[in-house]
Amino acid sequence: MKKTARAHTNIALIKYWGKRDEQLFLPTNSSLSITLDRFYTETSVEFDANLTADRFRLDHAVIEGKEREKVQHFLDKVRRATGETRFAHVESVNHVPTAAGFASSASGYSALAAAAIKAAGQTFTEKELSILARQGSGSASRSVYGGFVEWQKGQLPDGSDSHAIPILNQDEFDLAVLSVEVTTEKKKVLSREGMKRTVETSPFYEGWLKTVDRDLAAIKTAIHARDFRSMGEILEYNALKMHATTLGADPPFMYWQSATLKVMEAVSQLREEGLLAYFTIDAGPNVKVIVEIENEQAVIERLNQIDVVSEIYPCRVGPGITYLD
Ligand code: PMV
Repeated sequence: MKKTARAHTNIALIKYWGKRDEQLFLPTNSSLSITLDRFYTETSVEFDANLTADRFRLDHAVIEGKEREKVQHFLDKVRRATGETRFAHVESVNHVPTAAGFASSASGYSALAAAAIKAAGQTFTEKELSILARQGSGSASRSVYGGFVEWQKGQLPDGSDSHAIPILNQDEFDLAVLSVEVTTEKKKVLSREGMKRTVETSPFYEGWLKTVDRDLAAIKTAIHARDFRSMGEILEYNALKMHATTLGADPPFMYWQSATLKVMEAVSQLREEGLLAYFTIDAGPNVKVIVEIENEQAVIERLNQIDVVSEIYPCRVGPGITYLD
């Protein structure tokens, strides 16, 4: 039977940066994110005894080559976990701004995991789904839950203790996350490749590992206390440290463009003027600005005045996986 699931993207406040096991997607550090309400993926899966390979359609177009193989590889894991033997039709639609560079493997693999398990006639706990989604894309492990979510790195070699846990529900700490677009270009160094190169070659990676647990513990205290200022300071600091590791890689690389820096400078300028806002950046040049609801409009107005900003997408804290049939 055809089953459909929806999963939302997430933005990490404490970054996942580096794997200890490439095959199982086991991270070197724990991470923490906010699930976003605005951007999500809807995926339908139907297993079909007549198929001789998995079929994959993304945004109404048939996908072949590497991308299809990745999905097939992931579905192989689903088949191993469920005893399902048939191939599947997979239909995925990304509800993210067209070509805005916000398309996310996090929402994609989280929705795929949920729909595929249902289509195979099984019921997985959220923890089991998180472990499975992790093996499509690490950050997908966190999109299983809404609200504030921690991905605990775990210790076991088989990855059975490396999964997300909810920290706060969607309605427990209301915030705005402004997705600030400065370019719609595709990123040059994919996160998978960027992490690998950094772990293997950057002397700064050691500094990242030494301090990330401290950042995580401190931000959890701030989140539980609804201490926006402390949370903001920690998340910005953590993002800067992650990006600093890439500068020490061999060969070095950088996700920022001059436009990225302009937005970062504007955010710190806003703070000097008393408007509390903090930035974070993933493996690309666009910026996410975290702001309290009461200051959201004022911050949007100011950021809109920056010439390099092409679009601002305001988001709120979003829900976890939902099923549509
Ligand atoms: O799971 P991936 O391959 O999308 O990697 C995510 C890496 C960062 O976005 C930079 C950090 C994170 O925790 O989401």
